[in-house]
This record gives sequence, C-alpha cells and structure tokens, in this order.
Amino acid sequence: MHLFEPMRLRSVTLRNRLGLPPMSQYSADEHRVTSWHLTHYATRAIGPGLVVVEATAVSPQGLVTPQDLGIWDDAFTGPLTRLADVIREQGAVPGIQLSHGGRKGSRTRPWDGDRWIRPEEGGWEVVGPSAIRFADGYPVPKALTEREIDRVIDQFAEAAARALACGYEFLELHAGHGRLLHSFLSPAANRRTDGWGGDIAARSRLLVEVVRAVRARWSDDLPLGVRLSCVDWLEDGWSLDDSVWLSRVLRAEGVDLVDCSSGGILRPLSVERKPGYQVPFARRIRQETGIATASVGMIRDLWQAGEIIEAGDSDLVFLGRSMLVEPLQIVRAAAQGMVPKSLVPLQYRRAVDQLGGTAGAGEDVPPEL
Ligand SMILES: Cc1cc2nc3c(=O)[nH]c(=O)nc-3n(C[C@H](O)[C@H](O)[C@H](O)COP(=O)(O)O)c2cc1C
Repeated sequence: MHLFEPMRLRSVTLRNRLGLPPMSQYSADEHRVTSWHLTHYATRAIGPGLVVVEATAVSPQGLVTPQDLGIWDDAFTGPLTRLADVIREQGAVPGIQLSHGGRKGSRTRPWDGDRWIRPEEGGWEVVGPSAIRFADGYPVPKALTEREIDRVIDQFAEAAARALACGYEFLELHAGHGRLLHSFLSPAANRRTDGWGGDIAARSRLLVEVVRAVRARWSDDLPLGVRLSCVDWLEDGWSLDDSVWLSRVLRAEGVDLVDCSSGGILRPLSVERKPGYQVPFARRIRQETGIATASVGMIRDLWQAGEIIEAGDSDLVFLGRSMLVEPLQIVRAAAQGMVPKSLVPLQYRRAVDQLGGTAGAGEDVPPEL
C-alpha cells in the first residue's frame, strides 16, 4: 500500500490515505458553524482524502465547552451542510465526529483556562456511568439512569440521521479520550452493577447499542468509524487486548474503521509520547481482526505517514497538529515532486511550477501576471 493510493470504504473512495483527525476549534456561535470553521476546514481539505469535522455534541449535555459544535437541532443543519460542501469542493470526503463529553463536560475552552463552569455560572450537569470524577477540579458526574442511557442512544441515532442529511459521507463515533462512551468501556470509570457495567461485554454494551442505533439511521453505503482509546495507560484500565476484542465485535456490527488513539480516562498519565507511539495499536487491531484502522498521534509529517502505510501498519494516517501548523504541506511536497501534482489546486499550480519546493528557490522566474 502507498499513502497516495485511493482507499475504498463501502461506496466511498478516499483519494489517498491521509486524513485530518477531529480537532475541536471551540469557535461555534450558539453551537453553529462559523466562518472560522469554513476557512479552517476548507484549507485543510486541500490534499487529504478524508477530513473529519471536530467533536460535535449530540445533545446540550454532551457539550464539553459552550463553543463546541452541536448537531441536536435542525437549526444547525444549514451551516453544517455548507461545511460539508466546502470540504467536498476541495476533493476530500467530509466526515464528522459525533460526541458526548460525559463527565468531561461543562468546561471553559482552553484559552479561557480550561476550568469547570459551575451550575451557578451557567454550566450544566455532567453525567457518566458512575459517580467518579475525572480528576481534581472536575465535577463528580451524575450516574445515568437506564432511561437516560436509552435517551443517549437515541440522541446518537438522531445525530447520525442529521449528519446524513447534511451530506457527510463518513461518521466517527467518539469512544475515546474519557468521553461518555469511553467512560462506560473503562473499568476505571464504570463501576455499575446493572446491565451496563461489570464484565467487558456489559461495559461495551452502550457503545454497541449506539453503533446499532446509528447504523440503522446512517446509510448502508457509507462508512462508520469509531475512535477508541486503545489503552487507558493504567494497570487495571482498558487494555489493548480489550480493544482487539471490541474491534471484532464492532466489525460484526457494521463498523468499517477503528481510529486508534489512547488515554484520557484518568489523570495524570505517565506516557512517553514518541513519534508514532500509537501506531502499534492500529497495527495489532488491523492484523488480528481484519478491520481497517487509522493511526494517529505524533506523526510528524508525510514521510512518516508514508512509512506507516507502506509497512501495512494501518490503512489510513491522521495528521493533526502538523496540519494545524502547516495545512499546505501536501502542496509543498507536490512542488518537490514527492506527491501527485493533481493534489495541487489549479489556482496554485503556477506557484508550484515556478517556485519548486521552496518559496524563493525560483527567484529567477518572473512572477508574470
Ligand atoms: C486543538 C485540538 C483539538 C482536538 N479535538 C479533538 C476532538 O474534537 N476529538 C478527538 O477525538 N480528538 C481531538 N483531538 C486529538 C486529535 O484528534 C489527535 O488525536 C491528537 O492531536 C494527536 O494527533 P497529532 O499528534 O497528529 O496532533 C484534538 C487535538 C487538538 C490539538
């Protein structure tokens, strides 16, 4: 496999195996897409095969910050549709991540201090499987009742139907980073003794039921992905063996891709984050279950991404922060002859032809108009 080989997921073809992972922009206006999102995602859709729009809340209670995107109301669908369109116009497949923040909700955004917004300050009640908080400075969540769990499942399904109506072609369920679905999976957060906690099958029940409900409302022609925290990095936490077991179950339920992240269930983590440190999770899940995987996390550049694909470690590679800093790195690589020139928008071709890889390198070429 090669990074610039197309990838097929159900009836969708990604032009290459590079993706933008979901990254919250904390820039929504009353949970709606703003011009920041249009600019940000359109720019980053130049080059990759897949662009996944940030964690988008399935309910008001599922928000992490007040500035997160929401998808629980038809009032949000116009701007969400426009966002899918601008991504598609640049040749990338538009995807969206559906999220419930669970016990990590009701926070100010990072540049406002990332602190708990208390109820008296306009915050909202946070929920989880059990009354165990994430860390100091976080509220103790209310344990969801069985009725409330059913409602959460419905909210994910309704969100999937809305995402379909908005023209998204890939859906990712956020079941990592300590958010609600992950907190049910992990024994570090889920101490329930009813049918939603206990052994791994009971802890996985919420995610599996969400997948079933979502699959029923999402198109059979379109791919469904799940982001997992493949390990909790805790001795008695969720393990890679657990992720392999769960990936097999998810595959049988109609999930097409597992996006392999890690951590986020409890603080502090003592993890050595080396380049590509999560790639072994994607490799093992892919090899042992046959499901397609995405690797993500500390993947520095296109070259490292290419090596991961060529080694057969994962089917797709997400470049996150690297694409925040350098969104047009694919254009630069095309100018250097390292990736297909077809990925360069026609509007930029002259720059690429005349300047080569480095701006300034072709100073003898007059910038004729
Ligand atoms: C600003 C920012 C926002 C993020 N928001 C999300 C999110 O909404 N959902 C999610 O699953 N991960 C989120 N992440 C994690 C990224 O998707 C990715 O897994 C992580 O940044 C590691 O990849 P990288 O080293 O290529 O950046 C976010 C990361 C950053 C830097």
